[in-house]
Amino acid sequence: MKQSKFQAPTGMHDILPDDQKYFQKIYDIVKNVADFYQFQKIETPVLEDVELFSRGIGLSTDIVGKEMFILRTKGGDQLALRPEGTAAIARSYIEHGMQNLPQPLKLWYLSPFFRYEHPQSGRFRQFWQFGFEVFGEMNPVIDAQIIQVFYNILKEFKLKNLTVDVNSIGDSACRPYYKKLLVSYFKSRINSLCIDCRRRLRENPLRILDCKEEKCQRVVSLAPQIIDHLCESCHRHFKELLEFLDEIGLPYHLNPYLVRGLDYYTKTVFEIFSESDAGKQNALVGGGRYDALVKILGGKDSPAVGGAAGIERVVQMMKSEAIRFPRETITQIFIAQLGDLAKRKSLKLIEDFRKEKISVAESLGRDSLKAQLRLADKLGVRYSLILGQKEVLEGTAIARDMVSGKQEIIKLDKVVAEMKKYLAKQ
Ligand code: HAM
Repeated sequence: MKQSKFQAPTGMHDILPDDQKYFQKIYDIVKNVADFYQFQKIETPVLEDVELFSRGIGLSTDIVGKEMFILRTKGGDQLALRPEGTAAIARSYIEHGMQNLPQPLKLWYLSPFFRYEHPQSGRFRQFWQFGFEVFGEMNPVIDAQIIQVFYNILKEFKLKNLTVDVNSIGDSACRPYYKKLLVSYFKSRINSLCIDCRRRLRENPLRILDCKEEKCQRVVSLAPQIIDHLCESCHRHFKELLEFLDEIGLPYHLNPYLVRGLDYYTKTVFEIFSESDAGKQNALVGGGRYDALVKILGGKDSPAVGGAAGIERVVQMMKSEAIRFPRETITQIFIAQLGDLAKRKSLKLIEDFRKEKISVAESLGRDSLKAQLRLADKLGVRYSLILGQKEVLEGTAIARDMVSGKQEIIKLDKVVAEMKKYLAKQ
């Protein structure tokens, strides 16, 4: 067969009907949990000013340094396809004066994002996230609630063996000193670091802590840990967060090497993995506190915390754990037809059933009655309506009980009322 000329762009995927049921289920569960915890939905444009991300996420991060899709408009503006949601939502928070609304302000989203990454398993150039962001609250109880919300959602997805990694990466009061300690420690062992980490040592030394290279991990295992160098306020915040997590019985793992790949974080950072992902390459969820971001973007000082989950990774995990969802819309009636006149009547009948909120299935493209009834059986429908040429000419249809095989002739103009009686008997 000749290969089709067009393909989806590298790293981008169609979400085909088979996968839509996962996406729909995820949407429904996320919306339900968001409603329960009183998060309000927000959607921002797919494109934003490039500088929003370079200032918000940080110039030395991979996302800003290498992974943004950037375009220049005819008017000369430089826009980027959003690589993540937090900076954009913080922009919207400032732009619409949401600081003046009652705080904390709790927002959620479920949207596509774009990163020019090297495509591989669980890593795409267009991917979907659902996320939660809370603005205007310092108290670590909100950090705990964010972690709890994600954990509960993943549990509702029926994912098993989840691990929650938490850490604190301090703030502008304590991190600069810790960074200095780290740099001098790593400088003394520079020959034992991989090439990437030698660059990180200049640009972003904290990222060395989560390098996956074995030789770097050996060096990292003896490095000073930030937890021993937190200032009083970060230390208290972290201690209280852990107490809240203990209180709700949420299992977590202290990971002193968790630093995250975005510069806006202060204090709490967390990631959630599935243990089925042995190498812990692909976090399902990542997030943390970002108390300085709103100010960096030109707003009033507003503490904030949030997180986001990668939907493709969640779907992949659901499939690998063989999680299936039972069909939710049960078809009540199957309409089988023979011949053009019956087809025409069927079209009208389908609308009559729809108005009465009775779900019907049909196979208007098929002509063989046998094939149509086989399909009705496959769908598990209890009653079929058969519209043959003869019946339609006589203004009737055959109602067939698919379990007992019993058939009855009913008047076409009374079909909906008759079928309602059948359904009520079930
Ligand atoms: P992130 O860790 O970059 O954080 O992304 C969050 C999640 O999105 C990841 O754990 C992963 O599941 C998914 N993800 C990221 N990149 C890709 C990709 N290339 N392909 C597939 N899935 C991907 C953020 O985006 C922050 N905005 C999270 C946040 C919200 N922090 C505070 N509030």
